[in-house]
Amino acid sequence: AAFASRSVRRRWRWGQAVALVRELEVACDTPVGRLRQVVDAMAVEMHAGLASDGGSKLKMLLTFIDNLPDGTEEGTYYALDLGGTNFRVLRVQLGGKGSMILSHKVESQPIPQELMTGTSEELFNFIASILKQFVQSENDGFQQLPDDRKDLGFTFSFPMKQLSISSGVLIKWTKGFSIEDAVGKDIAQCLNEAMTKIGLNMRVAALVNDTVGTLALGHYNDEDTVAAVIIGTGTNACYLERTDAIIKCQGLLTNSGAMVVNMEWGNFWSSHLPRTSYDIALDDESPNRNEQARITGFEKMISGMYLGDIVRRVLYRMAEESEIFLDPTKNLSVPFILRTPLMANMHEDDSPDLTEVGRVLEEHLQISRVPLKVRRLVVRVCDIVTRRASRLAAAGIVGMLKKTGRDGSGGVASGRIRGKPRRTVVVVEGGLYIGYTMFKQYLNEAVGEILGDEVAPYVLLKVSEDGSGIGAALLAAVYSSNR
Ligand code: GLC
Repeated sequence: AAFASRSVRRRWRWGQAVALVRELEVACDTPVGRLRQVVDAMAVEMHAGLASDGGSKLKMLLTFIDNLPDGTEEGTYYALDLGGTNFRVLRVQLGGKGSMILSHKVESQPIPQELMTGTSEELFNFIASILKQFVQSENDGFQQLPDDRKDLGFTFSFPMKQLSISSGVLIKWTKGFSIEDAVGKDIAQCLNEAMTKIGLNMRVAALVNDTVGTLALGHYNDEDTVAAVIIGTGTNACYLERTDAIIKCQGLLTNSGAMVVNMEWGNFWSSHLPRTSYDIALDDESPNRNEQARITGFEKMISGMYLGDIVRRVLYRMAEESEIFLDPTKNLSVPFILRTPLMANMHEDDSPDLTEVGRVLEEHLQISRVPLKVRRLVVRVCDIVTRRASRLAAAGIVGMLKKTGRDGSGGVASGRIRGKPRRTVVVVEGGLYIGYTMFKQYLNEAVGEILGDEVAPYVLLKVSEDGSGIGAALLAAVYSSNR
């Protein structure tokens, strides 16, 4: 009866829908003052995470990488890149001093869903077999494997506790992966065993996070590169830190006096983050819920895995409370049905009658006959969610710069040369930054806003593509046992 009376009363409450969007806009607001608070919080948490294990929600993981590639590397190296939506195999040929990367070849394929939640043996057997096929096809179609043992770079984009450059234990899964028996295992060993089993004469020479691979390629191309950021399915950053600032590992000695630190900033949390009821609901229902804190802030507000779902939640509530859609909206109640690339397409629809918005709603959510006015509201929701995400990522970047004294705030002592800020490059990779123009534009804008006119010109954000994989191959070269 309740349902019947509801459908009788079904009527469009436009004002209410607008009010909901307005409310969202206020809750997601990121004026520069607020972003600066996030910057400060990020820098503070970085200090805390470097001071002791468990000292912060930022894990600040050691990578044992103390040397970044400089262009003198030589030879053929392979790399595997696992951790986002796609799985990549690469071969990189390095020509040594001056000639840099001679060629590289990448093969990419989606990871079968069932492997993301199966057993570690299945996953590593699959990876090793794809690598074997790739290597065989490389060798002039003779289906032969090279005799000499090859060094491999393995990009594994999940939090690991590393004991050396070529070993690391998985701490936990993120981004929808969940293979319980792999937690606590040495990931390099898992792959080495799978490769031996399949007759592939290769060893993991460098086991790295995707941010670290990206930093390696960035530094190879431009030695002022000090940090790398990924904004794709997940989000994270790494940067070069002085070893004496890594308090939790006293007596840590490296040749360069520095080490790359993987921040795992997806786990960052601060009360200054603009959190909404939609974020709280998303957190409660998501697969990688943080048991201790219930809150996993940054990644869920920023990355591609989640943005579309935040928008879906808002649209669902609008549909329920103000009935702006004429068709039934059952599909809107399905978690993750609205994927972020579709959301981006709607957001960037520049046709006068928003045909792409109409198409996505119809084809993916089975909601047709959506009036233009409502389509405009949908675009506004996408805009609010993406703007908040990109501006928070920008604050994270400046937070790193602040920690390393490159945000211009610390005067001459911190990186100014003859009174001028030092040229600083941050490389950014990942589908959201590369493929989503509005996201990139908002992020760049916000970095400029936070840094101000004097410092901003010295900070360059550079796009990187396939850096996570190519960089791993470069690191395999740097840390090769044959070198
Ligand atoms: C997740 C992972 C992290 C990775 C990031 C980007 O946050 O935990 O290791 O770097 O996604 O892929």
